[in-house]
Amino acid sequence: MLTGAEIRKRFLEYFEKKGHKVVESDLLVPRNDPTLLFTGAGMNQFKEQFMGKNVTYKRACSSQKCLRTGDLENVGRTPRHHTFFEMLGNFSFGDYFKKEAIAWAWEFMTGEMGIPGERLWVSVYKDDDEAFAIWRDEIKVPERKIVKLGEHDNFWPADAPSKGPNGPCGPCSEIFYDFGENTGCGKADCGPACDCGRFIEVWNLVFTQFDRQPDGSLPPLPARNIDTGMGLERITAVMQGVRTNFDTDLFIPLRAAIRRAIGREVRDEKLIADHIRAAVFAIADGVPPSNEKQGYVIRKLIRRAYLKSGMKAPFLYNMVPGVASMFKEIYPELDEKREHISSIVLDEEKRFSDTLRCAMPVFEEMAASCKGTLGGSEIFKLVDTYGLPIDIISEEAQARGMELDTETFDVLMEKQKEQSRKGSDISTDFIFKPDKFREAPKPSLSDVLPLEARIEFILRKESPSEEAAEGERVEVITSPQSSRFYAESGGQSGDKGAIEKTDGWMRILNTYETDGRKVYEAVVERGTFFKGDAVKLCLDREKNSDTAKNHTATHLLQAALRNVLGDHVKQSGSLVTDERLRFDFTHLKKMSERELSKVEEMVNMWVEEGVPVAKEVKD
Ligand code: ALA
Repeated sequence: MLTGAEIRKRFLEYFEKKGHKVVESDLLVPRNDPTLLFTGAGMNQFKEQFMGKNVTYKRACSSQKCLRTGDLENVGRTPRHHTFFEMLGNFSFGDYFKKEAIAWAWEFMTGEMGIPGERLWVSVYKDDDEAFAIWRDEIKVPERKIVKLGEHDNFWPADAPSKGPNGPCGPCSEIFYDFGENTGCGKADCGPACDCGRFIEVWNLVFTQFDRQPDGSLPPLPARNIDTGMGLERITAVMQGVRTNFDTDLFIPLRAAIRRAIGREVRDEKLIADHIRAAVFAIADGVPPSNEKQGYVIRKLIRRAYLKSGMKAPFLYNMVPGVASMFKEIYPELDEKREHISSIVLDEEKRFSDTLRCAMPVFEEMAASCKGTLGGSEIFKLVDTYGLPIDIISEEAQARGMELDTETFDVLMEKQKEQSRKGSDISTDFIFKPDKFREAPKPSLSDVLPLEARIEFILRKESPSEEAAEGERVEVITSPQSSRFYAESGGQSGDKGAIEKTDGWMRILNTYETDGRKVYEAVVERGTFFKGDAVKLCLDREKNSDTAKNHTATHLLQAALRNVLGDHVKQSGSLVTDERLRFDFTHLKKMSERELSKVEEMVNMWVEEGVPVAKEVKD
């Protein structure tokens, strides 16, 4: 059996023999193209060459790491949808054209791969008589196996002539593998365009010859080019005689590891395998989970995989070494960085499992009582208070056949943004607080890192109280008194989270310390709380970690300022929250634009370099 790795190798060797330079895969986030979120095709890194610029070699081939998120809903449900996949491709920059591209593709498939010619069908763009003739007259493919299709199927990018995007494009010709008549729908007109599963599109040969303009016109490019793309996972499925990409050796070991970790069969095993592969490759290429752009996609993939597994504790991070070793020959960086990747995945799983632990019971309860449509304010509560991502709420709602009132939700979200914009202009530098907790217990030294706690003291409307009812805003002290919650100080906001018990919960809005006691400012969202109640403290790790990042950023900012302006720069105040930071410093002049951008670049560079943050305990 040919392994996926062997196929990749043979592809590159074949085209090297035909005079192509073997070019390393670009990163998953293109190095030189800020217009793209992720690399989605082998040609991305050659966009310039297709425009006739910087052509130092005229033939190239690669196995490109790609990530596409357009079909997320299908991943794991169909035999061949993926987020992360590898695209094998050969490229000509103003060198050879249709004739050679078609002949070599055919030779590789039938010769190198040994696929019987009868198994292959092809499609061409409806007006591309030239490509049609090459297939029929030179390759000798029977006419009935050459299908003509429109710009949606046989132009790349799809629909480019009528809908764009602007830039290099051209008609294409696709090669399909036929699993056999008895495997499909059996209809007389079944062919490559049918989606019954009998045919699988393996290779796309694009004749990149036009440069689409904003007005929709298609002037020719400076030179005619070739751009091809063959999904490694697909050709491997064909070569290994299996019907889904997930049954190839590119997935089997990983799926087995997932099953072992979960300890039972899970419906979404394929999805989990897909998503963890994507996460590992993305993190290795410098995209850790975050709340923005690419990072948000990776966050979503890790969280989705975790949620679908039904696991109650992190386990995906344990899959990282396996993925790294499956690919270590071609992508040694995975193996080199495996511990780092693993720790990032673990961290994300932990954050998310904390979120879920607090949020899912609330969601279930809302789902049970909502009569088919989850209201906007409920959704808002899940998102805002519990940090449950809206995509996940929407997927979980769908799985239960529920609708979401997203309109109201959007309004509430907007309102909240408005408020926090206003709020952020208010300086919170220092507010004097008299000791209103005189009667509350003092902490003892043995208090360390509790999760399970007991309510010791409730302050309601500025006076000690035995209880706090739903809707009331209170200040609470628990025992033990020390916890992972950071108490507001030195301009850094206090941690947020929740205080839970079986039949109720309070939302912690802030944490502060007074006279050595840790106080939670909270509002009772559900139930009634009494002094003496056994509770759990749930830290909002996400906000906590965002705050930590902003805190670190103030130090980077200070270092950069001293570097650019001089050592006289001293911190004179700062504000650090999970959303923003402010840094006050001493300097006698207004900073110039140049100085500002220098500082900005410096800080961004350190962030991108991932300068290590160390934790040390000092006396
Ligand atoms: N760029 C072409 C594709 O992605 C080969 O299908």
